Amino acid sequence: MDLEECINKRRSIRNFQSKAVEKEKILKLIESAQMAPSWKNSQVSRFFVISSEKVRKEIANCLASFNQENTKNAPVIIVSTVVKNISGFEKDGSYSTHLKDGFQYFDNGLQVQNLCLEAYNLGLGTLIMGIYDEEKIRSLLNIPKDQEIVAVIGVGYPNIEPKMPKRLEVDEVVKFF
Ligand SMILES: Cc1cc2nc3c(=O)[nH]c(=O)nc-3n(C[C@H](O)[C@H](O)[C@H](O)COP(=O)(O)O)c2cc1C
Repeated sequence: MDLEECINKRRSIRNFQSKAVEKEKILKLIESAQMAPSWKNSQVSRFFVISSEKVRKEIANCLASFNQENTKNAPVIIVSTVVKNISGFEKDGSYSTHLKDGFQYFDNGLQVQNLCLEAYNLGLGTLIMGIYDEEKIRSLLNIPKDQEIVAVIGVGYPNIEPKMPKRLEVDEVVKFF
């Protein structure tokens, strides 16, 4: 599939088939996430893949109720974290730029976007979710203290083909000098 098609046709999926996702496809998603650029190639994102029914249900209970509903059939949930205080930081722990600790989240976003585009390429759908009980997920997955959860992503075969939510026109978001 060509890149244009992936970029334009990927949508957030809020209705999944319960069909399992092949482990090779999950590994390919993470491999593609790893190809993203990152601050000094620091690669601070980590991925916790949940496909066991028991743990998936426990994680689902940590999501906002509308997200629980949207991902109720998603067979896989991926929790993405960053190892804190590396990307965007100097060796002495001070911030490298005016964005302070922002670059670690920037890096994670680039990786998660690669993951979502690859998912579309493989016939899978994704839903990035930003609202969840971070403490509960941290404890369920035993996430180390030096990592912070950034995104929870539902993954599975889509059961719908959503329309694209309207985008701003290019001339509304660009200035040339
Ligand atoms: C950081 C982030 C957090 C999001 N959180 C949620 C969420 O909690 N629930 C949800 O249904 N969609 C969530 N979305 C999906 C957006 O609503 C969606 O990307 C946007 O409406 C554009 O639609 P599209 O992805 O189909 O192009 C999130 C997206 C991003 C990037």
